[in-house]
Amino acid sequence: MTASKPAPEAPSRTRDHQVGLPARRAAANLLNAVLQKKQPLDDVLGRAQDGGYMFDLPARDRALARAIVGTSLRRRGQIDAVLNNFLERGLPAKAGTLYPILLSGAAQLLLMNVPPHAAIDLAVRLAQWDPRAKRYDKLVNAVLRRVADKGEGIAAGLDPARANTPDWLWDRWVRAWGEARAHQIAASHLVEAPRDLTVKSDPEGWAERLEGRVLPSGSVRLLPKGRIEEFPGFSDGEWWVQDVAAALPARMLGDVAGKRVADLCAAPGGKTAQLLLAGADVVAVDNSATRLKLLNENLKRLGLAAETVQADAATWQPEERFDAILLDAPCSSTGTIRRHPDIPYLKSDKDIAELAGLQARLLDNAVSLLKPGGRLVYSTCSLEPEEGEAQVAALMARNPAIRIHPLRPDEPFGDTEWAKASGILRTFPFQLQLDSPEWSGMDGFFAARLTREG
Ligand SMILES: C[S@@+](CC[C@H](N)C(=O)[O-])C[C@H]1O[C@@H](n2cnc3c(N)ncnc32)[C@H](O)[C@@H]1O
Repeated sequence: MTASKPAPEAPSRTRDHQVGLPARRAAANLLNAVLQKKQPLDDVLGRAQDGGYMFDLPARDRALARAIVGTSLRRRGQIDAVLNNFLERGLPAKAGTLYPILLSGAAQLLLMNVPPHAAIDLAVRLAQWDPRAKRYDKLVNAVLRRVADKGEGIAAGLDPARANTPDWLWDRWVRAWGEARAHQIAASHLVEAPRDLTVKSDPEGWAERLEGRVLPSGSVRLLPKGRIEEFPGFSDGEWWVQDVAAALPARMLGDVAGKRVADLCAAPGGKTAQLLLAGADVVAVDNSATRLKLLNENLKRLGLAAETVQADAATWQPEERFDAILLDAPCSSTGTIRRHPDIPYLKSDKDIAELAGLQARLLDNAVSLLKPGGRLVYSTCSLEPEEGEAQVAALMARNPAIRIHPLRPDEPFGDTEWAKASGILRTFPFQLQLDSPEWSGMDGFFAARLTREG
């Protein structure tokens, strides 16, 4: 008698749910780190994947965890409104990961088409696994059941752009840009940004190979899918990831071939690479050793080389002055919320005031490093006037030798209403509309080209 092979175990509901548990656990941990410990998502994700709690997760589960986190953050206002409806006594204090479990569970139910039995069962298991949340397992079950039954109607009754923008940012954007534009900005954050590449050459060829599109300024746009390191051309250094708007400031320096250019605040080096490819002799300065290491790795992959200096660019004084300077200053990054949906929950008005102080010191030092007649491009990926328009106006008031060198209509974005009126570049995340939201948008950037007369 031959021993018959045991029949494959039929997938049971419970087993299926356990299969999805590690991805949900990772999502709740990531949300906990961002929302309760105020850590940037990219940092926690990096640590979790490189040897941390996501190290052993298959690619599919990693992608699911990232999608749950992205949806939870992008739609947090709507989801919170639904949860608050059903949390009669509010959220209990000292409940460990209870809130991230509810937030991510409701995100799956309301926005990700996850079947209720799976999303609810997995959320209850997560609560039972956390010593501080486990006494609330019945609450998780009851609240998420009500979310599944009645939540969609509540969420649908809210304006998603307004509901998912925290008041501090909404109020700022209404003050700075008016309500209609604030609404357009907020609406653009509901969709994940596409992925733009700056290519060394042959944009059409790369767009075809990578199933992307060539944008009017020459960047190649892809949908944000897959591991970028595995795409053709990455390891050969044929292109690098850089939002179409982020590729504009370095180009505003004009012809830099053979010129001595300082790239202050240079890491991870997207703009350094552009300057090097344009033939400049670049000194790349950054105060972070870790980020300079990343810049060196990136340049090496691209087959490029710059002199690198680890220094505080607000006080750095080399012996020789520069023909041109790019100051891409540290900022609140509110122009990049489409790709960093954690920013609204990590930054505050106080951070913006502090960053504006640092930017002013960086600008003053940059001016002192510029040869008379030299060009300085100051840029930030921020939508806040304190980090852009007001910063440049204050610099010009402090220093009468500084003038705006206006964008010409034939330069990228030089024919926009904005550039025509002020000579500066100001982009918004709702600009560059292609045929669908997934392919549209750009980072919100500010950039001014300045000259020093005497
Ligand atoms: C907006 S990022 C620069 C991005 C870069 N230009 C690019 O295109 O890839 C700002 C950089 O400024 C650096 N930084 C912050 N404060 C600085 C300072 N006081 N001196 C020099 N670098 C600084 C940060 O480490 C960070 O790498």
